[in-house]
Amino acid sequence: MGKNKIAVLTSGGDAPGMNAAVRSVVRSGIAKGMNVYGVYRGYNGLLNGDVEKMNLRSVSDIIGYGGTMLYTARSEEFKTLKGQQKAAKHCQEMGINGVVVIGGDGSFAGARALTNAGVNCIGVPGTIDNDIACSEYTIGFDTAMNTAIDMIDKIRDTAQSHDRCSIVEVMGRRCGDIALQVGIACGATSILVPEVRYDIERDVIARIVDTQKTGKKHFVVVVAEGVGGVNDLAKYVEQRLGIETRATILGHVQRGGSPTLRDRVVASIMGHKAVELLAEGKGNRVVAMKENKIVDYDITEALEMPRVFNKNLYDIAKTISI
Ligand code: ADP
Ligand code: F6P
Repeated sequence: MGKNKIAVLTSGGDAPGMNAAVRSVVRSGIAKGMNVYGVYRGYNGLLNGDVEKMNLRSVSDIIGYGGTMLYTARSEEFKTLKGQQKAAKHCQEMGINGVVVIGGDGSFAGARALTNAGVNCIGVPGTIDNDIACSEYTIGFDTAMNTAIDMIDKIRDTAQSHDRCSIVEVMGRRCGDIALQVGIACGATSILVPEVRYDIERDVIARIVDTQKTGKKHFVVVVAEGVGGVNDLAKYVEQRLGIETRATILGHVQRGGSPTLRDRVVASIMGHKAVELLAEGKGNRVVAMKENKIVDYDITEALEMPRVFNKNLYDIAKTISI
């Protein structure tokens, strides 16, 4: 029997730490005597044959960089059965019998489809949102939050100087984890997340008024992207309370930058685990973190898990951010 041939790709939104995961997959695979291929631009690379054999030096000096050296993409063609069969056929022609897919839920659905089409796939959670139900941590989350707190600390400097209120939108389309933790870390007077219904009078205005009574004259409100509406909220606060208010959308700055230690290390361990699973002949699995340990789940089981929002942390934030 020839050498085991595996491939690695990054898919969906990029996240700092994806490079560290790619590096780990390449080096762990080579250490196991495998041939390892890098696939460019997500599933599109499998469809177009944009695939390159990697060696130990192909992944030198990437661990400290954000983005992904393999580029990423959202592939509409791959969502079709025909596309999935085409990608599987290309893998089989190249002798690739395992693929590590670094991405989010959508990418995992793709990994399941490709496994069903005959190529074992393992998902590795890479997204800044931390929105993968089966894993208490996703690669990129820590870096994105640290970028956000750095930005909000700067915004606070100017809000404080002008006695203003600043409403800041952080990323997280369906998930308030970035907003919650960043809100705590920046002492936000209010934190609005998609998981908890909010009432503008009770959860924003009354909290600012209560804080004002204690002598404070500047305020930061952190809003998850999934809640949105920061410009309207800023206008409302200004009209309602007479406090000069500014809105800032942090946007894609949160997706870039050098990954933190946590992202580099978690990505390295998860990438290694994915290769171990492929070496055992397994497919259709997702690598995840549970109680700080690295585990794996069946992809369907993982995709069906309900996400649990940390309501306890949300309540703590409400108590102490005054
Ligand atoms: P993420 O992986 O970050 O959730 P997307 O939802 O955009 O990002 O998914 C990334 C890619 O995964 C899509 O562009 C598509 O190629 C593939 N994909 C998403 N959903 C499916 C699906 N249900 N079946 C097959 N492939 C999918
Ligand atoms: O999933 C990561 C994420 O950055 C979300 O927080 C955000 O809603 C989305 O991706 C933005 O995607 P795009 O890269 O298409 O602008």
